[in-house]
Amino acid sequence: MCGIVGYLGKREAFPILIKGLRRLEYRGYDSAGVALINEAGGLNVYKTKGKVDNLVEYTSDKDKTGTIGIAHTRWATHGEPSAVNAHPHYSQSHNLAIIHNGIIENYADLKGKLIEKGVEFKSDTDTEVVVQLVEYIMNKKQLDLLTAVQVALYQVIGAYAIAIIDKRDPLQIIAARKQSPLVVGIGDGEFFLGSDASPIIEYTDKVVYLEDGNIAVLRLDKNRSENSGMELKVVSILGEEQELTVKKVDIDLGQIEKGGYPHFMLKEIFEQPECLTNCMRGRINVEADHVTLSALIDYRRQLLSAKRVLIVACGTSWHAGLIGKQLIESFCRIPVEVEYASEFRYRNPVVTKDDVVIAISQSGETADTLAAIQLAKERGAFIYGICNAIGSSIPRATDTGTYIHVGPEIGVASTKAFTGQVTVLTMFALALAEAKGTMARDEYIKVVKGLSEVPELIREVLKSNEKVADLARTFTYAHNFLYLGRGFSYPVALEGALKLKEISYIHAEGYPAAEMKHGPIALIDSDMPVVVIATHNTMYEKVLSNIQEIKARKGRVIALVTKGDDKIAKIADEVIELPDVQECLEPLVATVPLQLLSYYVAVCKGKDVDQPRNLAKSVTVE
Ligand code: M6R
Repeated sequence: MCGIVGYLGKREAFPILIKGLRRLEYRGYDSAGVALINEAGGLNVYKTKGKVDNLVEYTSDKDKTGTIGIAHTRWATHGEPSAVNAHPHYSQSHNLAIIHNGIIENYADLKGKLIEKGVEFKSDTDTEVVVQLVEYIMNKKQLDLLTAVQVALYQVIGAYAIAIIDKRDPLQIIAARKQSPLVVGIGDGEFFLGSDASPIIEYTDKVVYLEDGNIAVLRLDKNRSENSGMELKVVSILGEEQELTVKKVDIDLGQIEKGGYPHFMLKEIFEQPECLTNCMRGRINVEADHVTLSALIDYRRQLLSAKRVLIVACGTSWHAGLIGKQLIESFCRIPVEVEYASEFRYRNPVVTKDDVVIAISQSGETADTLAAIQLAKERGAFIYGICNAIGSSIPRATDTGTYIHVGPEIGVASTKAFTGQVTVLTMFALALAEAKGTMARDEYIKVVKGLSEVPELIREVLKSNEKVADLARTFTYAHNFLYLGRGFSYPVALEGALKLKEISYIHAEGYPAAEMKHGPIALIDSDMPVVVIATHNTMYEKVLSNIQEIKARKGRVIALVTKGDDKIAKIADEVIELPDVQECLEPLVATVPLQLLSYYVAVCKGKDVDQPRNLAKSVTVE
């Protein structure tokens, strides 16, 4: 939540900051702002409500010069989205400017104390309190900026990634993090700062991921020529110097651009065959009928001895977890519980050292999932992570894990990450089952082979793109949708409903098909579209009866059927055909038309598909 960018170097900062904000806009887009120190030592802060485009328009006639600057795109927590509450925030003297991602929990207390000392606040945000506190400490104790930041952060309770500049020292940015990500990019005579590496990779592949509790000093010394006069120092809040690890980021620019598609979401839906191939590369060997996950080799004892698996995740990742439960239980015969990380962390759950906790997260930064990991760790569980964002906080907090390797996901609605997560969960369940000897060899081989064919099957499903687009036009009138599925298709129904509601703002519910008769059936009338996953599997006849029940009440059925099914085609209003696939692999193909359906409904309704209202891609607040 909230995107942070910074630049310190020899080029004009403004274009770099704006480009960076556009790359980070997926993290929040309520307002945007920039702070620049110009040649004359003036600190200019410009900010507007709404997206980065508004900021660009607003600043068209302003002084945008300066080779040092910080910029921010906001997802509002404290204070409504407005220009006043947008970041950066000045300190009272206008000497300092700050940007912040996270929540300062004790801001009201600190603010009250500063007001008593005569400090005047301009905004309703929790962020402003940090910059005012830093300035107050600097003045009162005659401290330099770094020391004042250390003293201030010592008093701050909460989560933050911050960057501060001081107009009296235009060669320095101070940045700090606690529970919110921050990356420093090291170029040739220039520094970059970002909430993730996406605003940086265009300029350098050398990065330092800041650790929790660290403060970074990015400094240029124009009189020094060695290392282009650059100095990067990292200290703890208590001032102890920290070791720096410079890493190489391996993201290519094309991965974070739209590549000719009108939206990132559509691009990411269409990328799935390639993404899943990448996800399985080096892990599935069809010739040898074998799945290899390095985590299962390196941590064989811990994973094999699990008496129970607990899956913690949020949103779409939680839906992937529900599929993981069915896979692990059926292949490995271990009990699995799936928990919303946000609930798990607050309810004193029973967790023991005999548990393996699987934490699933695309961003690797979800605050609730991180907190759930922390709790499980404290109780002795072994933690296995399934993440996409490389080097993010969750993979660093886990004991081991597997990256899904589907490339950066920019659209706020998760698509390729979901199929990537389910692919890794399938490989995990297969590898564990093989190691435990809980799966018949021929069944194991069949699933391994079937999984390796999934990218091709998704390619086939994507051919229904036009048909789904037409169908979406027919249903844009609807105010409610019901999604039904059974067994492996039930989480798919939940995921289809979530996709629709988050980008088209149509109310949608996912239900196990057989539960319909226990309540939701009352909702059905001729205005109610019901999406039913009715493929040819063990539940087919039962789901067919559910469809009859809906039709008897004049509901409009959109059925996902197995290619060649003419029984359902006769009774459903619309059918989308899916290739024949083993039941346990069905979620990987059945989800795709539902992603397309939600995408096209949202497009028809003129909604902002990639950046739906009120949402952000990575939820780093509770
Ligand atoms: O990054 P994570 O996978 O931890 O994110 C979890 C949820 O916030 C995320 O899946 C959210 O539900 C998406 N907007 C769904 O499309």
